[in-house]
Amino acid sequence: MTRLRVGLGWDTHRLKEGRELILGGVVIPSDLGLDGHSDADILLHAITDALLGALALGDIGMHFPDTDPLWRGAASRQFLEHAHRLVRERGYEIVNVDTTVILQRPKLKDYRTPIRESLGAILRLDVEAVSVKFKTAEQVGPVGERLSAEAQAVVLLTGMA
Ligand code: C5P
Ligand code: MG
Repeated sequence: MTRLRVGLGWDTHRLKEGRELILGGVVIPSDLGLDGHSDADILLHAITDALLGALALGDIGMHFPDTDPLWRGAASRQFLEHAHRLVRERGYEIVNVDTTVILQRPKLKDYRTPIRESLGAILRLDVEAVSVKFKTAEQVGPVGERLSAEAQAVVLLTGMA
């Protein structure tokens, strides 16, 4: 019997001067970066929540409280790897990941391949199984006004048993 599970993730962080913009583990040249306790990689956070959500394992804040010194300043890659480990321990593997980053500026399309490769390396997935899409917010709302950025992710898991 094939066991399929789908998971949805979303994240947002503020944009701020003097911070790096890191998306999917890739540093993007930008005048504004994402602010937060960790490296504020909204794309990795959204995928982490999607993995946790697929198996109803709670959410990123439950597993990695920012009050816990263990996780303070942690690279978000650790969060994603931990969630992926939980998934594998329960006998599931990722079929594919689809994501959207909503950022007004800078243009991200030249970074699609590096970001897909970075995610593929973290999740040990073929790049064909990793989709990364980009949208502006049409200059509307906090994302459009460059106060923040958002990321969305969907993952499909299949049971290995
Ligand atoms: O949001 P909009 O539909 O105007 O985006 C048009 C295209 O611009 C998208 O297909 C996307 O590939 C690209 N884009 C980008 N970097 C962004 C936002 C959008 O490369 N920050
Ligand atoms: Mg986050």
